[in-house]
Amino acid sequence: MAGPTQHAHWSSRWTFLLAAVGSAVGLGNIWKFPYEAGEGGGGAFVLVYLAFVFIVGLPVLIAELSLGRRGQLSPIGSMAKIAAEEGRSKAWAIVGWSGVLGGVIVLSFYSVVGGWVLAYLLKALSGFSGYDAAMSTQTFGNFVTDPVNPIIAHFAFLAITIGIVSRGVQGGLEKAVTFLMPALFVLLVGLMLYSAITADFAAALNFLFNPDWGKLNVNTVLQALGLAFFSLSLALGSIMTYGSYLTKDMNIPQSAVTIAAADSGVALLAGLAIFPIVFAYGLNPGQSVGLVFTTLPIAFGQMPGGVIVGTLFFFLLTVAAVTSAISLLEPAVSYVEERTGIDRKKVAVYIGTGIFAMGTLSAWGQSGNVLGNISIFGLDFMGLKDFITNNIMMPLGGMFIAIFVGWFISRKNMMEELTMEEGTFKIWYFLVRYVCPVAVGAVFVSIIYNTVIAG
Ligand code: TRP
Repeated sequence: MAGPTQHAHWSSRWTFLLAAVGSAVGLGNIWKFPYEAGEGGGGAFVLVYLAFVFIVGLPVLIAELSLGRRGQLSPIGSMAKIAAEEGRSKAWAIVGWSGVLGGVIVLSFYSVVGGWVLAYLLKALSGFSGYDAAMSTQTFGNFVTDPVNPIIAHFAFLAITIGIVSRGVQGGLEKAVTFLMPALFVLLVGLMLYSAITADFAAALNFLFNPDWGKLNVNTVLQALGLAFFSLSLALGSIMTYGSYLTKDMNIPQSAVTIAAADSGVALLAGLAIFPIVFAYGLNPGQSVGLVFTTLPIAFGQMPGGVIVGTLFFFLLTVAAVTSAISLLEPAVSYVEERTGIDRKKVAVYIGTGIFAMGTLSAWGQSGNVLGNISIFGLDFMGLKDFITNNIMMPLGGMFIAIFVGWFISRKNMMEELTMEEGTFKIWYFLVRYVCPVAVGAVFVSIIYNTVIAG
């Protein structure tokens, strides 16, 4: 294997945390969380999601960061290296492969939605005045089914992502997040306060925190676990790669707690920014994928200062999406760079071009043209890729990461890597050995049962 001569590192604990939180906080928190909470009946879904973040997601987050840091290579290189050091099968590298490829596949549709966000940022600048439910739905429908504009937007979004990744860990990733993450946080808190003061905050609090357990069923529980993994960026290479840029003196468990808290905190803040507006304008909280793109613009069109609020909102969403997208591209770039020694800029452009092509197919999957009508197992390209990554690669990847760390690495080596207090280590070890594999395995089995066997 062509060994990397010098593997990059974060310049400080702070920039690592910003980058990791930047990866975690994205469309998953600000776009998916509110609409899944809306569909799943609010409070009960939120509580289940939070429990999964801390009981299942956090232990896997710690596991992934520690694998990355110990390996100091891309997810594929790190998994192979650690398996060899522990005298285990080379096949464990498959977990790394699944992560790197999964990241590329997710980015190919993530960047399509990222393109929608960019396009809506432009629309927001000229305001949404006169938008009612019918017009808003139609505008969004016309936009996503247009064969050209979503492709241009998708291209623009990917170009930004490639531009950042090609500049490297310190020159690209760190520079971007040190400016963007604080901006995101300030904007989000500002919007939340605006919503709290001007709109129906009480209704939003009631909706998000008052659990109606009757609305909970197997599907919403599965969805909550999937969202916990997705919003923490688990199992698809991002976190392991970011872990590989860590130095030995960083406290991984402590950082992981910070990342999980920031990630779920932002999801809640996003809910508290969005739902007061939804309720104050009498809109429907269960509007699925359209919540952000069709429901909110109606409110932005009516509220005083709506042009500014709407523009800030879509800018915030763009920032969140970009800082996540770079973490989806980075694992593949780091792998190719490590294996071939080809200049990172070129690698980023090559892989980015492939992702653009794959994403264009998903974007067309939304439109009525010839390519858009191709369907595999009844899913369009976007649906198919979402299914493979969210329902297969993520749960299996997460399960095998937990199993590898819990059963195939010596306990002593794990203790040394994590430098946790004995008592805390015991809790983590129990979760990662038993709770995570069982919980994630059960999700996988029930998804497969629901789709393949029960049809
Ligand atoms: N966590 C991001 C979000 O919430 C998306 C993301 C980035 C991701 N990297 C990932 C999801 C790796 C799964 C795996 O939008």
